[in-house]
Amino acid sequence: MVNFKNRDIISIHDFSKEDIMHILKTAKRFKAAPAPGLLKNKILASLFFEPSTRTRFSFESAMQRLGGSVITLADAKTSSSAKGESVADSIRIVEKYCDVIVMRHSIEGSARLAAEVSNNPIINGGDGANQHPTQTFLDLFSILETQGKLKGLNVAIVGDLKYGRTTHSLAYALGMFGSRLHFVSPVSLQMPNHVMHELKKMKAKFTIHQHPEKIMPKLDIFYATRIQKERFPDPVEYEKVKDVYIITNKLLTKVKKNFRILHPLPRVNEINYEVDTTPYAYYFQQANNGLYVREALLALTLGKI
Ligand code: CP
Repeated sequence: MVNFKNRDIISIHDFSKEDIMHILKTAKRFKAAPAPGLLKNKILASLFFEPSTRTRFSFESAMQRLGGSVITLADAKTSSSAKGESVADSIRIVEKYCDVIVMRHSIEGSARLAAEVSNNPIINGGDGANQHPTQTFLDLFSILETQGKLKGLNVAIVGDLKYGRTTHSLAYALGMFGSRLHFVSPVSLQMPNHVMHELKKMKAKFTIHQHPEKIMPKLDIFYATRIQKERFPDPVEYEKVKDVYIITNKLLTKVKKNFRILHPLPRVNEINYEVDTTPYAYYFQQANNGLYVREALLALTLGKI
């Protein structure tokens, strides 16, 4: 029996396959049947020290759809962090005003630190270039929805693998479920050594590529990511790689019928708009699934299901 009450959601490493399947099954229940009133009188504090559209709005919408309410920080400049208050002190205060906290911060490890000082559950909405576990749960939900399984798939993870926190969390999770990973990136943005080291320890299967063309016919999932300008210390380095992968219909001529393109979004140039109307585009449905996955996470951590 999986018990999530009061559990923090910080890193994919904290979850077993059984845990993840429980989250995905709960999300499927919410997608099939809304549960208004389930979280009545509960308050979500939504603390976003970095910009967000999907993660913040889907968490806030999820809480409101379940009958709860939301207090929110969407701009760090309007909070006392602008006066120098530490993350730990901010959390010690905000936890007194709410029942659960979702937080995004630029510093790797900040969510873990928040969990250490909070009595309420902390949900990591992205900590620097480290992890974005709730994105991974909705990615897995979308993969399961389109492929019917998480094991034995060929998944390309493409783009900014160095700074892309969603790619790190997803690689760990798919490695755990036994899918074959194909990392496609420029050399300067390859998957960090510590992630590959961890994947080897897990006996996950992965290969490294600089171009996707040759592997397209074998892929089930193409997970595209944005090259994250804001994380480059040197703008010149960003200019060199910014448009390195642009998916157009031409790239999709030899793909399998079940092939789907996912993207955590936002996109800049990496998926041409012409692709949106092909049967392979699944990134908008994927973003929609974020709502159900986040409803599940709120209900589970608050012990209501
Ligand atoms: N996928 C994702 O994290 O999107 P936002 O940055 O808009 O939250």
